[in-house]
Formats: sequence, C-alpha cells, structure tokens
Amino acid sequence: RKPVTINTIQSLYRKNEPITMITAHDFPSAHVADHAGMDMILVGDSLAMVALGMEDTSEVLMEEMLLHCKSVARATKGAFTVGDLPMGTYEISPAQALESAIRMIKVGRVKSVKLEGGKEMASTIEKVTGAGIPVLAHIGLTPQRQNALGGFRVQGKSTSSALKLLEDAFAVQEAGAFAVVLEAVPAEVAALVTKELNIPTIGIGAGNGCSGQVLVQVDMLGNFPPGRFLPKFVKQYGNVWDETYRALSQYKNEVKSREYPAPEHTYPMPKEAFADFEK
Ligand code: KIV
Ligand code: NA
Repeated sequence: RKPVTINTIQSLYRKNEPITMITAHDFPSAHVADHAGMDMILVGDSLAMVALGMEDTSEVLMEEMLLHCKSVARATKGAFTVGDLPMGTYEISPAQALESAIRMIKVGRVKSVKLEGGKEMASTIEKVTGAGIPVLAHIGLTPQRQNALGGFRVQGKSTSSALKLLEDAFAVQEAGAFAVVLEAVPAEVAALVTKELNIPTIGIGAGNGCSGQVLVQVDMLGNFPPGRFLPKFVKQYGNVWDETYRALSQYKNEVKSREYPAPEHTYPMPKEAFADFEK
C-alpha cells in the first residue's frame, strides 16, 4: 500500500472516513499493525507500563522511547508513525521541546511527535510545527499529569471542564497541531469538539463522534493475565495471553516428556558418517 502521509490523514478527515490508530512498541507489534492496515501507529509512552513493566509513564526516558521508536519505524512501511515525547522532555521551554522532537525524528525515525497539554502548550506546538515536525496534541485525560488531575479521571464532565477542553482543542489547532487526541471525555463533549474543529480528533474513551480512534495494542489484544484492570473504553479484540500461555505450557510439557523435538524438527546425518564419527 501507499505510505500514509499527513496529506492522507487530511484526506481521510475531509472524506469523513474514520482514522485508525494503534500503539506499537517494538518490531513485531508494529509489523502486524502495519500489515493490518492501520493509518497511524503511535509509539505511546504507555510502553512504560505495557512493555517495560513500570508503574506509570513518568518513569520512561527519552533514550528508552528512542530505542522503541527505532524498532517500530523499521517495521512500518505504510502507516504514519507518531512518537510520544516522554514527560520531562518538552515542558521546560519550546526550545527544549523542539530539541526533543528533532531527536525523535532523527534518532527515533518516526514521522511526527505527540505531546500532552492544551492552551499552555500552544507556543510549544507552534515552535515544533514551525520547524516542520508534525505535532499530534493530546488533551482531556493526560496521563503524564495524573498527579495533578488526581488520578485517571474522566475529563470534561462538568460544563466548565467541557468548556476548558474546547478551549484547549482550539488552542492546539491554532498552534498548528495536525490532529488532537481526546482521552477519557464524555462522548457528547468529544463529538461537539470534533464538530467545532477543522483538524481531526482521535478518540480514546471519547465515544463514536471523533474523527478517529486509538487504543493501546497490548490492552485490546488481551495480552495480560485476566484480572488486570482495564479502562471501560478498552474493547478486547483478542486473547493473546491465553494463546501464548497455552503454547508455552504445551512446549514445556513436550520438552519434559521428550515429545519435542520430533524427527521432523531434527537435522539428519548420513548413517555411515555417524558410524565413523562414533568410532
Ligand atoms: O501512550 C499512549 O499509548 C497514548 C495513547 C493512549 C493515546 O498516549
Ligand atoms: Na501517551
């Protein structure tokens, strides 16, 4: 397929065709997402939890993000790639953000960056887009700010916070963001924001009225043991944990019973050659 560019995203948006986005954190997860035809692949800093086992996204470093971005970029031939700027690499000043964004592009080999925040990040978004690096904004529930938000809470539930969300959306659009992620906001609010904007909204826990959707791949694949907390908006499209567990258990049992490897998994040697060798 033809590689998705920023123009493809704009054309999908104009045609009112939903934009598909999924996270990936390494070569295999990007490979399959690209083959499945995702429009966009996000190397989300959620990889802190789902790939690195950290408590939250505040722990992940730029160097770690870059390693994961590179592996995703190598597998991605069709989708438009976005790298998440990790906490601490863009908040200090627009110049810091631009420096980090440039590293993401040059070293991480992604095509664009995502950063969290609304109005207060407008000058930063302007700086980064001004250098020719597309920016995906992220407002509503911004996990890097969870301590200030009082945890993972739905945003825009009251009239005043819905109004703040709309202001943030206008601000990031005005600043030049090519699209904006709306995370954990009431569907009605997300739909209205989408209607008011002239850039695409990418929803996660934001209902069906957005211009596109994004999910964390590991969550939607069911790649963790049953009982792990998942937000309400995650639909489980697969059961990778069960399938992997089944396969690994069977492998273990077959090694223990010497059922594996069977003759068909084994390299033969001419009988005479072995007889000589044995002597
Ligand atoms: O880090 C991430 O995976 C994200 C998406 C959930 C939008 O930011
Ligand atoms: Na993120």
